[in-house]
Amino acid sequence: NIPTTFEGTVDLGIIGGTGLYQLECLEAIAVLPAMVTPWGTTSSPITISKVVGDSQEHFHVAFVSRHGLHHQYSPSTVPFRANMAALKHLKCKAVLSFSAVGSLQQHIKPRDFVLPQQIIDRTKGIRESSYFNDIGLVGHVGFGEPFSKSFAEYINQFGSVLKHSDPEESCSLHLGEDVTVVCMEGPQFSTRAESKMYRMLGGDVINMSVLPEAKLARECELPYQIVCMSTDYDAWRDEAEPVTVETVLANLHNNGSNANALASTIITNMANKLPEFMVTGDNLRGSIKMSVATKPH
Ligand code: ADE
Repeated sequence: NIPTTFEGTVDLGIIGGTGLYQLECLEAIAVLPAMVTPWGTTSSPITISKVVGDSQEHFHVAFVSRHGLHHQYSPSTVPFRANMAALKHLKCKAVLSFSAVGSLQQHIKPRDFVLPQQIIDRTKGIRESSYFNDIGLVGHVGFGEPFSKSFAEYINQFGSVLKHSDPEESCSLHLGEDVTVVCMEGPQFSTRAESKMYRMLGGDVINMSVLPEAKLARECELPYQIVCMSTDYDAWRDEAEPVTVETVLANLHNNGSNANALASTIITNMANKLPEFMVTGDNLRGSIKMSVATKPH
């Protein structure tokens, strides 16, 4: 009997990736049917939640499942523009995204978490990656720093929730100025040769979903950070089997409680006190005005 409409405003948008469908700190107060936007329909219904224990209900979260509730959208067919537009429409002040990644570095172990600050685009140009396509208006947003550094630093302070006395359970959170995520097209995983090439290019982790999500968040003037959950060593280690879906899912499953603990800590802290970058908009508010190249005519 949960309502299918919501009148309030949302503070935080969450895009859940493979394996992250529910967060224990959240209590659903509405489930909006998949939202129809001028850029298509969102990949899933949007769950609006309050934070457990927040009796005043002054903080709301909107959750969209990137690949759909049944994992029916491949990375190449996710309606990224609709998903981001829906979060913007609900007045989210920032977008926190989760994704499984392969590790391209020995020190980033399967089940570690990574907050990348750079992206290398290896998608094949087949994804709609801008709201400026075919509208008679040309916009070039700045993308030199594709994530929100203040958001990443905010998340990074909670890294200790991933530490446990049992080494089997314990993992690390990695953040660095040039920690780089490679975004490949897929859906097939990389060859060993490609995997080695990405290491030479400076890649630290690899996924199929950070683009165009990060670009669209920037066009929506929304602070955006992806939390990457490492699930495998991709294919660059000659002595080991290349990645399989089985490995990815097994590690995601085993890591569910760590992912939940990290996400829940971030959200509960935000609900207690809205971080500065969400109040000010992290210097992105109004930036689109400076990005339009078309002259009035
Ligand atoms: N997602 C999880 N593991 C991956 C890998 N090795 N390559 C691309 N995307 C991934």
